[in-house]
Amino acid sequence: MSTPAPADVLRTLPDSRWEQGPSSHAEHLLEGGHVLQLPQLPFILAPGEERFLDPTWSNGKAKNISLRGTSELRGAQGTAADLAALQAMIRRFAAQAQSLVDRLFPQYRGKLRAGNASLRPFPVEGRVQSWRQDDTRLHVDAFPSNPMHGVRLLRVFTNINPSGRPRGWRVGEPFADFAAHFAPRLRPAVPGAAWVLHRLHITKSRRSAYDHAMLQLHDLAKSDLAYQASAPQAAVDFAPGTTWVVFSDQVLHAVMAGQHMMEQTFYLQPADQLVPDTAPLRVLERQFSTRLLLA
Ligand code: SIN
Ligand code: FE
Repeated sequence: MSTPAPADVLRTLPDSRWEQGPSSHAEHLLEGGHVLQLPQLPFILAPGEERFLDPTWSNGKAKNISLRGTSELRGAQGTAADLAALQAMIRRFAAQAQSLVDRLFPQYRGKLRAGNASLRPFPVEGRVQSWRQDDTRLHVDAFPSNPMHGVRLLRVFTNINPSGRPRGWRVGEPFADFAAHFAPRLRPAVPGAAWVLHRLHITKSRRSAYDHAMLQLHDLAKSDLAYQASAPQAAVDFAPGTTWVVFSDQVLHAVMAGQHMMEQTFYLQPADQLVPDTAPLRVLERQFSTRLLLA
């Protein structure tokens, strides 16, 4: 399977309905490192929901308002009635995202596990963050506290900005090139460290060699300003009303601009892919000629 240069990362699908449409069997595009954009697939707000396009619904602790499962709303503040309406809105997005992935990726049907859905009400510009949390720097998604053990991160995003502002992204080079670039700087974990992190509840499960490598790649990319400036990359704007789908553990991405977005995360085992060899786990294992998960 060939891997796209940054300028060629985007693929456009014409679908205008979540539940039905002309596109299907797009697994090979997604696994090949493309971002699938659907410029005619908006998330339609119900009457009254425009009021949720406002950061003041955030409780100020988390950068997103998220729905875990179908009923656990996190990061929001408001009256019980408002929070119920906000939850219903995010739940509707989660259901539509599920319909979309079931339709576009029949190979994954019954295999994708839905994670959190979120509403992201804050403007991207002007956020003050540590470099590690700074998503305006190119990165692949990897989380310090949440080891993935090779499981894929598939994300559905929709720009719901009400005043025409695009969500501005940058996308980078193919995962294998990125991994090869930083491979000489990767270091093995200190023996016993994964056990200690888990024992101290810093991680939710034992961090695998895969997670250790992915976290280093995340950090090496974000901390390398020369790489940020000069690595192969392309700017991509997602207009309001556009939905896009990406393996965010594979496609180097950065968010540069925008406000108000919906997001749904799904998890997929590499073995359930059309071509499991495209998974970052398998790419890294080939690169290092070693297994990165315990049997
Ligand atoms: C990210 O996953 O890095 C952020 C994406 C976004 O906020 O548009
Ligand atoms: Fe990210």
